Amino acid sequence: MDRVSGRWVALNQDWAKLLPLIDRWHEPGELREPIRNLRTTLIEHEVGVVGSERHFDSLNTLILKLTAHCNHACTYCYDFETAGGSAIEVDVATDAIRQGLALCDSSLQVILHGGEPMLVWARVEEIVQAGEELAADEKKRLRFVGQTNMSRLSDRIRDFSWQHDIVWGVSVDGPAEIHDRLRIYRNGSGTYRDFAQSLARFPDFVKSCGVLSTITVANQDQLTDVCRHFRDLGMASWEWSLFQPIGRGRQAAEELAPDPAVLVAAWNELFDAVLHGEFEGFPVRPIVKYTDNFLHGPGTNMCMRPECGAGRDLLSISADGTIEACDCIDTRGPLAGLGKMGTDSLDDARKSSTANSIRGRDLCSTRCAECVWWGVCGGGCLARAPHLNAIPDLECALALNAFDRIADQLVVPGGPLRRYLSTISTDAS
Ligand SMILES: C[S@@+](CC[C@H](N)C(=O)[O-])C[C@H]1O[C@@H](n2cnc3c(N)ncnc32)[C@H](O)[C@@H]1O
Ligand code: SF4
Ligand code: SF4
Repeated sequence: MDRVSGRWVALNQDWAKLLPLIDRWHEPGELREPIRNLRTTLIEHEVGVVGSERHFDSLNTLILKLTAHCNHACTYCYDFETAGGSAIEVDVATDAIRQGLALCDSSLQVILHGGEPMLVWARVEEIVQAGEELAADEKKRLRFVGQTNMSRLSDRIRDFSWQHDIVWGVSVDGPAEIHDRLRIYRNGSGTYRDFAQSLARFPDFVKSCGVLSTITVANQDQLTDVCRHFRDLGMASWEWSLFQPIGRGRQAAEELAPDPAVLVAAWNELFDAVLHGEFEGFPVRPIVKYTDNFLHGPGTNMCMRPECGAGRDLLSISADGTIEACDCIDTRGPLAGLGKMGTDSLDDARKSSTANSIRGRDLCSTRCAECVWWGVCGGGCLARAPHLNAIPDLECALALNAFDRIADQLVVPGGPLRRYLSTISTDAS
């Protein structure tokens, strides 16, 4: 695998032995022909070819934290200690979109986030409509997506979302007995019933949403059952987000953090179920996202590539107007706060010294320096690592295992993983 581009080629053992001699392709001798053949193969697969590297220099994604408030009180919530600004000012959000449109190449994705974004629905409508007008003036594409607990769904929210193509993800951690352990109300009772009620009242709308489950000790060993649950409910897809010990999750970090060995075993069980055809037609994103990166090289998944999106193609605006490189970055840590809306422009924020140091993350002194999967992994999320130039152990363990298993499947033509991929729509992968 090319460490820069993530392109790869499968070679038999005899050819692999010739790799150290690749620079000697022009020298006479009996190895000249096989080395030339090897060189041609590498060039055909764009491995080791200058110019195949990709860069991600233009802003293309903006997270808007619409409110710091929430009607739920999930035990692990990283937004729970967010200070100030209960809801984003419409002018601030609109200005961020205007600047984002100016900085992007041809399209901008805006992620409606929180707190709980559906609590401030009137503002969402104002922001979306203003953004659409700005995009039309700029002749650029603007796409809204959002993440919600889906507890406040109404006819108005459904209709506006459909009319404006807002694609929602819904956060549910598994069946009620799993979900209700950590996704709770302030009085401690579980919130699964909110999701169930919305699903019952608005089945078409809710089923069109992908599910996002946060992975903690509560569900780490039950990935396959969690995935089955959402497939059986008819949801559009299933994705995970690994627990991060920030915000409210900081206090309970040791009790909540998944165990790498347990999670790797659960991922393998899920992978085997996918190979056995159990999830045909249903996008199992914790499998598909590694597979997709492996097949097509790093790109749109800004968390799984050597140049991650934070402060590069992504910025996040907090409810109080603080500009962050990514919403996963600890707002109390050294990488927080690139600037403030109203004082600093998004461009200033991307040029700030903090943003420069985030983009300058250097993993040369870690095991990534020697890792064959570097080109499609990128060293894991910097916000989950102990410090900027370190790697997060959990993500590393998952990536090492996942890419080994995926490579075993994909280096040969055909096979159950390719068959599964052919059953899910391409935009799901
Ligand atoms: C902060 S919430 C905001 C949007 C909305 N309230 C919701 O729950 O979807 C966005 C996502 O982050 C996840 N999340 C919250 N705290 C987390 C943490 N400490 N580690 C990882 N993911 C977390 C939530 O489960 C949810 O899927
Ligand atoms: S994860 Fe979402 S629903 Fe849960 S407390 Fe945080 S903002 Fe609210
Ligand atoms: S984080 Fe782990 S799997 Fe990823 S490139 Fe580094 S060593 Fe390899």
